[in-house]
Amino acid sequence: AMKKVVLAYSGGLDTSVSIHWLGEHYDAQVIALTVDVGQGKDIEAIRQKALSIGAIKAIALDAREEFVRDFVFPTLRAGAIYEGDYPLSSALSRPLIAKYLVEVARQEGATAVAHGCTGKGNDQVRFDVSVGALAPNLEVIAPVREWEMSREEEIEYAHQRGIPVPATVDSPYSIDANLWGRSIECGVLEDPWQEPPEDVFQWTKNPAQTPNDSRYVEIEFERGTPVALDGERLSGAELVTKLNALAGEYGVGRIDHLENRLVGIKSREVYEAPAAVVLHEAHRKLEKMTVTKRSARFNAIVAATYADLVYNGLWYSALKRDLDAYVESAQRHVTGTVRVKLEKGSFHVVGVRSPYSLYNYSLATYDKEDAFDHRAAVGFIKLWGLPLWTQAQVQR
Ligand code: ARG
Repeated sequence: AMKKVVLAYSGGLDTSVSIHWLGEHYDAQVIALTVDVGQGKDIEAIRQKALSIGAIKAIALDAREEFVRDFVFPTLRAGAIYEGDYPLSSALSRPLIAKYLVEVARQEGATAVAHGCTGKGNDQVRFDVSVGALAPNLEVIAPVREWEMSREEEIEYAHQRGIPVPATVDSPYSIDANLWGRSIECGVLEDPWQEPPEDVFQWTKNPAQTPNDSRYVEIEFERGTPVALDGERLSGAELVTKLNALAGEYGVGRIDHLENRLVGIKSREVYEAPAAVVLHEAHRKLEKMTVTKRSARFNAIVAATYADLVYNGLWYSALKRDLDAYVESAQRHVTGTVRVKLEKGSFHVVGVRSPYSLYNYSLATYDKEDAFDHRAAVGFIKLWGLPLWTQAQVQR
């Protein structure tokens, strides 16, 4: 019997060429798998394209709700943002796609899976490690990493075999998108001194062209998870989709930073992630009200570790799973409403309320309702400062 390979198929040039290449170099039959994680493409059309190019079978799955529920929101609850800037959009879709590659491989009796990643990015690591964690005996093939064709040679290869070359092949940019964000790389962006030109942005309006009137949006959280916008309960995918449009309209969610890749390269990365940026900030502000100082300090450590695990392809690690258990517990009072003001390219959290608020007016106020025991401060300060007083006597 011929070898069967399940290929993560995006419909772009690399994975289209891969269908043929896997046949020629591995004598394999290709089953194409396209997962809708909110990349904004017609996955049924992509499925048909795979068949027309020569896949023996093509599967399209809508995993948008699962993506948000099981990958995006756990990461939001953890407060995990990579290197302070990147909400991990691309990084989060890989373990989900890997899971379905494995599932389909089992169903179809395939002995290998394949993806279209290059040899210098993080995505190859995330796919390879995730597949390995879920199915240690499955082979992983990365045609683009192996074939050593230049862009021109690849296009020539496609023309010779009647593989349609997408019009976007002329675009100077490399794009990856899902509900949690859109990543833009290559072209002029490779010079960190160059401001990203307007044409890289699709989800966010140029701040100069945003509405003149500001707008408020109220986000409701339950145990760290956003559940409603302006009083309307929404599914995860609906909520993120809606907030992407709303905040994007105000030019909110543009990110531009130098990122440390796992493979050792510093890379200039531009993202659009309107919902992610707003939700992380709203969640952070709600935690300030509902979490004690000591827990907040520890949550920050967890957040940084969690972000590194996700970025570095370790979604299916024991540590990530154990941190999820901590986060779930630590989020049990992170319930409440956050009021966000959107205006001309920026946004601010302008109000927070929670049934579990640790903010106590009578302790905080300077008015006559003040219930704080001012005299208790004296003894406290004596002991707090004791080590310094002691040291000053001897070592000053
Ligand atoms: N630098 C980001 C990451 O590693 C974005 C990757 C985008 N992926 C892509 N195939 N264009 O998560």
